Amino acid sequence: MAPGNAGTAHIAQNLDIKDTDLLALTESAKQKRVDLVVVGPEAPLAAGIVDRFQAAGIPIFGPNKAAARIESSKTFSEALLLKYGIPCARGAAFSGYQAAVDYVKQQRFPVWIKADGLAAGKGAIIADTLPDAIEILSGLMEKKTLGASGEKVVIQENLAGREMSAFAITDGKTVVPLTSACDYKRVYDGDQGPNTGGMGSYSPPEFATPQLEKTVLEKSMMPAVRAMAQEGSPYQGILYGGLFITKEGPKVIEFNARLGDPETQVILPRLKTDLLEIIMAVINGKLNQLKIEISNEACVGVVMAPGGYPVSYKTGFPISGLGDLDKDIMVFHAGTKLGTDNQVLTSGGRTLTVAAKGKTLAQAREKVYANISRIKFEGCHYRKDIALIKSK
Ligand code: AMP
Ligand code: GLY
Repeated sequence: MAPGNAGTAHIAQNLDIKDTDLLALTESAKQKRVDLVVVGPEAPLAAGIVDRFQAAGIPIFGPNKAAARIESSKTFSEALLLKYGIPCARGAAFSGYQAAVDYVKQQRFPVWIKADGLAAGKGAIIADTLPDAIEILSGLMEKKTLGASGEKVVIQENLAGREMSAFAITDGKTVVPLTSACDYKRVYDGDQGPNTGGMGSYSPPEFATPQLEKTVLEKSMMPAVRAMAQEGSPYQGILYGGLFITKEGPKVIEFNARLGDPETQVILPRLKTDLLEIIMAVINGKLNQLKIEISNEACVGVVMAPGGYPVSYKTGFPISGLGDLDKDIMVFHAGTKLGTDNQVLTSGGRTLTVAAKGKTLAQAREKVYANISRIKFEGCHYRKDIALIKSK
């Protein structure tokens, strides 16, 4: 695991290597005779980790640098959506400030302004008025507040409807759905406060009928994979479609080149087929020969974060209660590290996700919340309304 955390320390050897230090990673993998590399986050994919390992002859799972542009360049993915007629938020891409300002003057507000490049969740900003939009564009494109990431932008209409994260796995030819999830972006209950990387999630979404899942697969995911192949950048790995289910049907707001966080924590526990078998089928281009099964159970995950996240927060506090949980509770570590005496300490923004499966969403939700209150660290905060489905 590179770099790993207190959770992975129990199941793997943690390597103190940054996930974008491709040279150190390939050297270490060669030295340790690693059989297979699985890439989690977007930064190493965008940096070309897959190309490097392939060149070194080490099997690796994920899209190469050119294919990862579907996430690492929003202007690329916007152009792809438009060219191939994939239903999406109406929008346009700009590399010049003045052209972006001229365009935004013609729009109805609010609009979303998105930095082209990776921005660790800070790249999508909503503008409620024209002066706001001009200020955001000037910040990104002239003052370069997000560096090179914001030199180009995409401007999108604001969509209404339920938001859904859809997942598919592909070897570039066969596209298999991996079910979908709902993510909670805002930091506080009732969707209040600033956007975060995600404060909790559940799967399956209660509104994801088989018909909806089929439409998303056929109208969004499969066309995107075909489009990438036609563009000369065949896509292999996991494709994450960020969608809004609008009155006119599902519309894409973005693609990611990986599983989501915290969606992974509620998707993978529902997977009945061995993940390794799936990964090997993708790497060997034989996904068409595999049947992937997803359980009917529901899964709910709640993220614990330090108070003040995502703005300013302190870390380094001991976490207690991890040993006092019911047997079927899953704890996924994120921003944790082992202290000198092997104590688990907080070390990052989102600290851990507590997840559970149940026959229904309500059962899974109940299990998570009955356990999460036993875990404590100074200033810890979590949302209380994850998977709380309001009846209409
Ligand atoms: P992104 O970085 O594109 O994932 O955007 C972050 C979050 O902003 C999304 O998960 C949505 O909740 C929201 N968002 C982004 N684009 C749109 C849009 N066109 N319409 C409505 N909400 C959006
Ligand atoms: N939960 C959103 C993401 O992984 O991008």
